[in-house]
Amino acid sequence: MANKKIALVTGANKGIGFEIARGLLQAGCRVYLGAREAAKGQQAVAELAAEGDVRFLAVDLANQATLDAAAAHLQREEGRLDILVNNAGINVAGDGSPSSADVRSVEQALQTNFLSTLAVTQTLLPLVKRAAAGRIVNVSSPLGSLTLSGQNDWGLLGYSASKAALNMLTVQLAYELRDTAIKVNSANPGYTATDLNGFAGTDTPAQGAAEAIRLALLLADGPTGTTSSSAGPLPW
Ligand SMILES: NC(=O)c1ccc[n+]([C@@H]2O[C@H](COP(=O)([O-])OP(=O)(O)OC[C@H]3O[C@@H](n4cnc5c(N)ncnc54)[C@H](OP(=O)(O)O)[C@@H]3O)[C@@H](O)[C@H]2O)c1
Repeated sequence: MANKKIALVTGANKGIGFEIARGLLQAGCRVYLGAREAAKGQQAVAELAAEGDVRFLAVDLANQATLDAAAAHLQREEGRLDILVNNAGINVAGDGSPSSADVRSVEQALQTNFLSTLAVTQTLLPLVKRAAAGRIVNVSSPLGSLTLSGQNDWGLLGYSASKAALNMLTVQLAYELRDTAIKVNSANPGYTATDLNGFAGTDTPAQGAAEAIRLALLLADGPTGTTSSSAGPLPW
């Protein structure tokens, strides 16, 4: 179908990203399932193949060459990208409270969850600009809320700081693109049972994916520069 929306979800071989890919497939998108390990990505594609048009795309946030190759592939095959979901993220061992978090662990969280996500966004933005109504969804976290961080002892300074920085990308990119049809928003899963937390989360990955899917499919009257969970707006 020529008018299918073209979507890329990073870190989609498992967890919340896998369910975001599934939701976008069910909405009729052609989904490029981003994964850094080809075998895992191909396995996930095989699991989803019966549900729609899904294709593996090598995307390692730590390797700019894979980002450039992914952009070149999308340019060649599709000429545009309607939906970019920046889902890939990490929770690093050694992260902790401000007084004790290992600085290198904090650096790793910032590198992947913010700096490398910025690199993905910058690399793919020209393709999003070629879409009629681009959507960029940054998968953030309530732990990235400055307001909520002043009311809770999260104990993960690096992770929280990385998601707060990601929220800054959402706000500033939305503002930079305010005169375009592109919408940029942060989606906040609840505490979701995935590898990230040793499957201690209380929500299912499908529940964790719901808000990102909704924001990826926003219509023209939808918001930009916001942060929300499936329960509604979150405080910055
Ligand atoms: N679980 C929660 O409670 C929760 C709550 C709020 C927000 N989030 C956010 O939701 C997103 C998805 O997390 P999840 O819970 O689904 O965790 P997950 O199951 O551990 O999945 C994380 C995904 O990111 C990928 N990834 C990590 N580093 C990458 C890199 N450098 N390049 C490419 N892919 C990379 C992983 O690939 P590999 O399989 O190769 O490691 C995996 O596909 C993250 O941004 C996380 O911060 C999670």
